[in-house]
Amino acid sequence: MKFSTQILRLVDIDREKYKKDIKKAADLLRCGQVVAFPTETVYGLGANALNEEAIKRIFLAKGRPSDNPLIVHIAHRRELMPLVSSIPVWAIPLMEAFWPGPLTLIFPKSDRVPHVTTGDLATVAIRMPLHPMALDLIDCCGFPLAAPSANLSGHPSPTTAEHVWHDMEGRIPLILDGGKAKIGLESTVLDLTGEVPILLRPGGVTQEMLQDVIPEVQIDPGVGQPLEEGRKVRSPGMKYRHYAPLAKVLILSGALQKVKDKIRCLYDDYTALGKKVGIMATGETWSYYGDRNSKVVGLRSEPATIAAGLFDCLRQFDHDGMDIILAEAIPACDIGMAIMNRLGRAAGFDIWEV
Ligand code: TXA
Ligand code: MG
Repeated sequence: MKFSTQILRLVDIDREKYKKDIKKAADLLRCGQVVAFPTETVYGLGANALNEEAIKRIFLAKGRPSDNPLIVHIAHRRELMPLVSSIPVWAIPLMEAFWPGPLTLIFPKSDRVPHVTTGDLATVAIRMPLHPMALDLIDCCGFPLAAPSANLSGHPSPTTAEHVWHDMEGRIPLILDGGKAKIGLESTVLDLTGEVPILLRPGGVTQEMLQDVIPEVQIDPGVGQPLEEGRKVRSPGMKYRHYAPLAKVLILSGALQKVKDKIRCLYDDYTALGKKVGIMATGETWSYYGDRNSKVVGLRSEPATIAAGLFDCLRQFDHDGMDIILAEAIPACDIGMAIMNRLGRAAGFDIWEV
């Protein structure tokens, strides 16, 4: 089905219009339709998590493999109980510390959650977003919203309504525009269904923040490297080439001066071969690249700005038709772990030590 997609810019100072727009979205969701909405991490492609037909529409709109499960979004802690069959002990302090916020927790699922929502798994991923518009939308619906990132499968996640429009125009009836996503990378995913909590996807709630609350948290080996042939994944999302721009991404890692020199060299070599090359630079380094084609993704001194700018930067390079993107690695601690995880996946973990 082809939709004439509408974008509604949510303006929360005009309360009447705001309420009307949220209600319009909720009415569509109540009819089993799919609506894109803002969260603090990235935009989500929402549908009623308890309605199988609605969920199937998400997979169709996104072109997503049906074995890749969705995150279920709730607005209040009381909405958790009906969705899960038990609450592992670790969950309580984690929810206290990080909900609402960019932390998705995986629980054993209850029978109320359809198998299509969880890609046939016996577990369900749940998150309470830290975004007033997302919370108001869930409240107005009165049911939880399953929502993957609102990009076409394989594209970088959308951090603006324009990104969503680019991927979803004609595929869904409505996009709620809440401005630019603050964090810019998808939520941290933590599996609570094993003997110890396992970090499956790093995000805005960092390993360090999690371990402050639960020192036992371990990191899945798939977080920092490509999947080994035949290894069983805990999170189906890990096995797909995610966050991928069309251009080939090369990451240069090592002492910063050497990285910058190598990037200049590679840029000149590839350009001489007739390739269109873009440099993903930082505020501290861009001037070193002179008049070579570069974009500033953010500041090395404030890695959160790199997280917020990463997907937009990858999309811009694609829009400009680059063949190759040369990117500087950043230290993989705190939010840097999530940045390097996404950048690594975009590059197929093609990281060059210099
Ligand atoms: O920030 C976010 O998490 C965004 C916003 C919209 O909330 N959502 C998002 O959803 O990134 P998605 O579908 O793009 O990524 C969800 C990830 C996938 O890698 C999926 O495999 C994993 O979470 N996942 C979901 N349910 C799971 C489960 N029961 N067990 C293991 N992994 C699960
Ligand atoms: Mg996604």
